[in-house]
Amino acid sequence: MAYYHENKPFFLFFSLFLSIMAIANAFSSCNTHEIGSVVPTTPLVKFLVRVQESALQTFGPKNFDPKLYVDFSLKFNLSKTESAFDELPRSVDGSISVKDLEGFIGTYFEGAGDDLGDANPPDFVPEPEGFLPAVENPTVRSWALEVHSLWKNLSRKVSGEVSEHPDLHTLLPLPGSVIIPGSRFREVYYWDSYWVIRGLLASKMCDTAKGIVNNLISLIDKYGYVLNGARAYYTNRSQPPLLSSMVSEIYKRTLDMEFARSSLPALLKEYQFWNSDIHKVIIHDAQASSDHTLNRYYARWNKPRPESTTLDKHSASNISNDLERQKFYQEVASTAESGWDFSTRWMRNHSDFTTISTTLILPVDLNVFLLKMELDITYLAKIVGDSKQAESFLKASKERKRAIDSVFWNPKMGQWLDYWLNDTTCQQYQTVEVSNQNQNVFASNFVPLWIESYYSDVFLVEKVMKSLGSSGLVCRAGIATSLTRSGEQWLLVNKTHMSFMFFIYGLLLNKHLTSRDFPNGWAPLQHMIVEGLARSGIEEARSMAQEIAISWIRTNYGAYKKTGVMHEKYDVEKCGEYGGGGEYTPQTGFGWSNGVVLAFLEEFGWPQALPIDCQ
Ligand SMILES: *[C@@H]1O[C@H](CO)[C@@H](O)[C@H](O)[C@H]1NC(C)=O
Ligand SMILES: *[C@@H]1O[C@H](CO)[C@@H](O)[C@H](O)[C@H]1NC(C)=O
Ligand SMILES: *[C@@H]1O[C@H](CO)[C@@H](O)[C@H](O)[C@H]1NC(C)=O
Ligand SMILES: *[C@@H]1O[C@H](CO)[C@@H](O)[C@H](O)[C@H]1NC(C)=O
Ligand SMILES: *[C@@H]1O[C@H](CO)[C@@H](O)[C@H](O)[C@H]1NC(C)=O
Ligand SMILES: *[C@@H]1O[C@H](CO)[C@@H](O)[C@H](O)[C@H]1NC(C)=O
Ligand SMILES: *[C@@H]1O[C@H](CO)[C@@H](O)[C@H](O)[C@H]1NC(C)=O
Repeated sequence: MAYYHENKPFFLFFSLFLSIMAIANAFSSCNTHEIGSVVPTTPLVKFLVRVQESALQTFGPKNFDPKLYVDFSLKFNLSKTESAFDELPRSVDGSISVKDLEGFIGTYFEGAGDDLGDANPPDFVPEPEGFLPAVENPTVRSWALEVHSLWKNLSRKVSGEVSEHPDLHTLLPLPGSVIIPGSRFREVYYWDSYWVIRGLLASKMCDTAKGIVNNLISLIDKYGYVLNGARAYYTNRSQPPLLSSMVSEIYKRTLDMEFARSSLPALLKEYQFWNSDIHKVIIHDAQASSDHTLNRYYARWNKPRPESTTLDKHSASNISNDLERQKFYQEVASTAESGWDFSTRWMRNHSDFTTISTTLILPVDLNVFLLKMELDITYLAKIVGDSKQAESFLKASKERKRAIDSVFWNPKMGQWLDYWLNDTTCQQYQTVEVSNQNQNVFASNFVPLWIESYYSDVFLVEKVMKSLGSSGLVCRAGIATSLTRSGEQWLLVNKTHMSFMFFIYGLLLNKHLTSRDFPNGWAPLQHMIVEGLARSGIEEARSMAQEIAISWIRTNYGAYKKTGVMHEKYDVEKCGEYGGGGEYTPQTGFGWSNGVVLAFLEEFGWPQALPIDCQ
């Protein structure tokens, strides 16, 4: 817990200033390690994980994507397939030959993604009426139309086969068509969909946008919450909760009352999920002598993630204690729930991935999303005439705002900081000092700006804007996620005790695991911060927002011209460069990047004379 106390001369001052007590509820404070018995995933997922592990052994780590194997669907029933797999000849070390395994895969599996057909969104037209009216520059306009046309490339419909024979597919059935992120992300994802929808609205494709929401609602009807993504192996975690934002954004454009009315019950159900036992923590603020309720990410899972079993087992290979290993797996899955998988943000020790402790952090952004959910439900309930519901959610939003102000806000830094829970004792009451705020700088420290409760406060915005400007996050080609450089050696591997293959795997893994950190920039964070600054009504804030948006659009354009595709992430230090590094196939497509480019062009336009090339 000590590492973030370094070089912080002012934290002592705050310790005097504010003293908070935390009562994590019984489930969370002492029994964090007990999440009940984890129900095994479907027999199909279990089997495909076995195939995944064999495939790594057979094909080796180069270009190995563990997710590919759990995305296969079966040509025959599971028992027949499993017997055939068991009967494959194996060498002494248990490995299968390349030829045999390739033959087996070809005979028994359909290709990954074959159970998702291309779909033609009916509301797509090549040049929608009223499309980005303020984009005057012809080069930018024609590129924007190309990005718009990518909705067709990314549109999919789950095959009827899936609902007829669910036991042959890890894909989950959905009622309508979806927009996928792209590449290895072959299915619909939860929080990605918010920025996809923002882009669809700029593209005047409101029906496609509503269809995505209805698919996500069908998951709430079945599971009680929106899954991370529509796969059988994502059933035990969610993702940053932005469904209410999707619904209210669509409503504001369409004024479709029936849509608002039919979505509301699902939002209420989802709200219960996020405020249930495991996601909720009660903090006692001694200064104000009141209790605050705040939330955290918390996956119901204590095994390797099926889609990344080989990676997760490798990361845990140095943990010998069973309980500790289960806890580690739970933290990994909870980090996937945060959408920030993976970042030093969740690690107590930035050099040691096994210190990942997401469930012991109250994250700023999650609580902002829940505040927004409360405000969105207030708004929608009012619209459909449910004033009682509206009143109760307005009250909840006021309470949460007070909690955010008292637990996360750091006036000295002019940022909102994540809060570490104290896990050192099993006592019910823990005195937690303000030094438990994580004083490292992350883009999420500025996400409160996104919502009106904060961007409407002139003094606050001016202060936070200064803080953002001097934070080091705002770079030449966008806002960085953190100041910690990716690829730092934070996966500890005992090289003398590892086979060469796993050594290489470890190197690849390092790159993969740090992908959220510097110098990678992600579209959602650009968008939330820019939109908040732009809507504040402060001229200086709008200029800053516009500058960031212009550099982000330029880098997306530059990389598109160079590679012909839109990317999942970009290098914020170099205009026209995508993020990640060369060893992984870069993920392209790409839902949220396309959405944010279109949303920025809608907000700011592009003047005739402004060059689009990297400057
Ligand atoms: C994981 O999700 C499945 C499917 O919803 C559910 O049956 C199971 O109970 C969950 N596991 C836990 C530990 O909650
Ligand atoms: C699976 O398929 C085989 C051969 O087609 C059949 O004999 C067997 O009964 C099936 N098993 C199940 C559980 O359906
Ligand atoms: C990791 O490996 C090193 C070297 O073998 C060992 O000293 C250390 O205790 C291990 N850590 C854990 C958590 O098992
Ligand atoms: C962080 O982890 C590294 C690697 O295990 C270790 O050498 C270092 O001492 C740790 N730092 C702290 C503050 O525990
Ligand atoms: C919180 O943890 C620190 C050590 O990490 C400890 O010194 C402090 O007393 C704890 N606070 C309480 C009240 O448990
Ligand atoms: C690797 O493991 C061996 C044997 O346990 C140990 O002697 C050595 O110090 C370890 N190396 C590192 C870097 O931890
Ligand atoms: C999108 O689909 C069209 C038509 O199939 C194809 O020509 C184009 O290359 C695709 N674009 C990308 C970026 O994949």
